[in-house]
Amino acid sequence: MAAKSSVLTESGQVRRAIVVGGGLGGLMTVIKLCEAGVPVDLLSLVPVKRSHSVCAQGGINASVNIKGEGDSPYVHFYETVKGGDFLANQPPVKGMADAAPNIVFMLDRMGVPFNRTPEGNLDFRRFGGTLFHRTAFAGATTGQQLLYALDEQVRRWETVDLEDDKGVTVPGEKMVRKFEYWDLCGLILDDTGTCRGVVAQDLKNGEIRSFRGDAVCLATGGPGLVFGRSTNSIINTGSPAAIAYQQGAKYGNGEFIQVHPTAIPGTDKLRLISESVRGEGGRVWVPKDRNDKRAGASIPEGERYYFLEEKYPKYRNLVPRDIASREIFRAVMHEGYSAEGQRSVFLDVTHLCKTPSGKAAVRKKLEGVLEIYEKFVGVDPYDNPMRIFPAVHYSMGGLWVDFEKGADGSLKPGSSRNQMTNLPGLYATGEADYQYHGANRLGANSLLSCIYGGMVTGPAMVAWREGEKKSAFDLSSTLFENEQKRRETEYTALGNRAGAEFDVNPYRLHEELGDMMLNDCTVERQNSKLDEVVAKVREMKGRFKRCAALDRTLTGTMNQPVVFLRHLAGMLDLAEIIAVGARAREENRGAHYKPVFDPELHPDDPKAVGRDDKNWLKTTLATVTADGPKLTYEEVDISLEPLARRDYGKVAQKPAPASTTPAVK
Ligand code: FUM
Repeated sequence: MAAKSSVLTESGQVRRAIVVGGGLGGLMTVIKLCEAGVPVDLLSLVPVKRSHSVCAQGGINASVNIKGEGDSPYVHFYETVKGGDFLANQPPVKGMADAAPNIVFMLDRMGVPFNRTPEGNLDFRRFGGTLFHRTAFAGATTGQQLLYALDEQVRRWETVDLEDDKGVTVPGEKMVRKFEYWDLCGLILDDTGTCRGVVAQDLKNGEIRSFRGDAVCLATGGPGLVFGRSTNSIINTGSPAAIAYQQGAKYGNGEFIQVHPTAIPGTDKLRLISESVRGEGGRVWVPKDRNDKRAGASIPEGERYYFLEEKYPKYRNLVPRDIASREIFRAVMHEGYSAEGQRSVFLDVTHLCKTPSGKAAVRKKLEGVLEIYEKFVGVDPYDNPMRIFPAVHYSMGGLWVDFEKGADGSLKPGSSRNQMTNLPGLYATGEADYQYHGANRLGANSLLSCIYGGMVTGPAMVAWREGEKKSAFDLSSTLFENEQKRRETEYTALGNRAGAEFDVNPYRLHEELGDMMLNDCTVERQNSKLDEVVAKVREMKGRFKRCAALDRTLTGTMNQPVVFLRHLAGMLDLAEIIAVGARAREENRGAHYKPVFDPELHPDDPKAVGRDDKNWLKTTLATVTADGPKLTYEEVDISLEPLARRDYGKVAQKPAPASTTPAVK
């Protein structure tokens, strides 16, 4: 436990830090702050137990090497860097992989009901991008179990009396004050650009108020809703990151959006079918005959094409997600394969369920996710191959954050630079930051990066707070009152949008944005389309100014449509960052793929080099300007491992014969 830093200002004000976001990254940051004696205001858009971390299914990576396979934190580090196509700064990734085993042991001690082997050890399953069993899991509801464990820890801190520097209880003050259903409206920056607090809105009654904070952290998740339908919760608009960007925070690697290979196709949202299904032996296939529309269970073994297994005999169904998604997309959209004649492929566990004991074993490890399939599709996946298709899942990009390298090559413990954005005093962690995954995240590294990020962010905020010359709580109240007024005025202006000039329905505009981003900014990208997207997003920003407030009740109650306008403005900004970054990046790297650069498709074109380290081994940084994002580039720290080929043992295939039928639309 770090030494306690001063808790009160000279005038007796409690010096709180602020954490916005109650998922794993936010909760872990809160815990670390509290352990160091720093009281915290925790703000969350939803009850913390509904944060998007709750949706994570398959597990959390840690090289415990329980099965004696020769795994180690260094191998985990290397495979993460390779999985991310070498675009991640290596020191933070090393820190994360080194910390992973102890993180899992800590979670185990907190009571997470991890699956265990018959002899009582923690069990580990396989996930993508590695041949090792590295993923600890609690059935297929791992995120929920982890979130509930950290939530209990934070609840404990909510009951702990705050003590001053002499150990005397400060009357009426607890270590954590929790504000659920609060939405971030803005940061409070002083005249040096230092973050001194936030303005937020209570969605239960519309109240807008300022919060002072000696260090602020955004742990507010990713921007999946920019794509309309995704595996994300509908709270994941990315609005807080967009607000920070609007106020000067740099946004890193926005163009890197992860498309998960396996989700249930749907019209409302795209429900995840975890990678753990393949980790436990599930197989992806399509009927060999592209006109075959039969139900999967009635197609004989000899008539099935296990394309991932044939192309990648070493990793089989567990190649990294960017590769698996591209292969599935290609099979369906270009080669004319389908499952039951629909835009999908089969994901099959039925071969594992032929005996009662086999079925019971599958149930023990995957019930949580298989019941989602049964519930939403109405088909029993124990007896019938599931129909799945790729879906937007995660953003590798996010707020740019700094790090300080330590003597062992990973992060310097307790440096105030770690996880700090370019706005002094403002930190970001979890999916809201860009730090750990490069151009493609390996499955089950996100729960890890959220928790590790929180473990780093808390001490960094403590160090920053200790170094502050003047506490936010000693500043004149004018700064805070002005920022509060500014946000109240904005909210009122949004809520007063009525009349003939406000003729745009914001929900329709969002739908249009999502459809376009999904079509043109996901698995395959083309410059001509990206040019159109950039132009269209800018046109939409114009139309946003004409969006109507569909409910004009501004006080005393929840006003979802006006709050949605705030989030829609942020989604338009993030869409622009993603599209502009994708247009500019002239190579293929991880999840960012332009067919024109693919040497397999264009063997005779010298420009089709695939990944281009000479020109593009760089982080994209987007900075706000009146004309849209200005892009600059930063060298990636590759000080620990030299670059290598990103090879997953692909076997050259005969080109797939042209489709006998048009590709499924
Ligand atoms: O497939 C999954 O269970 C997702 C895990 C992750 O995104 O890390």
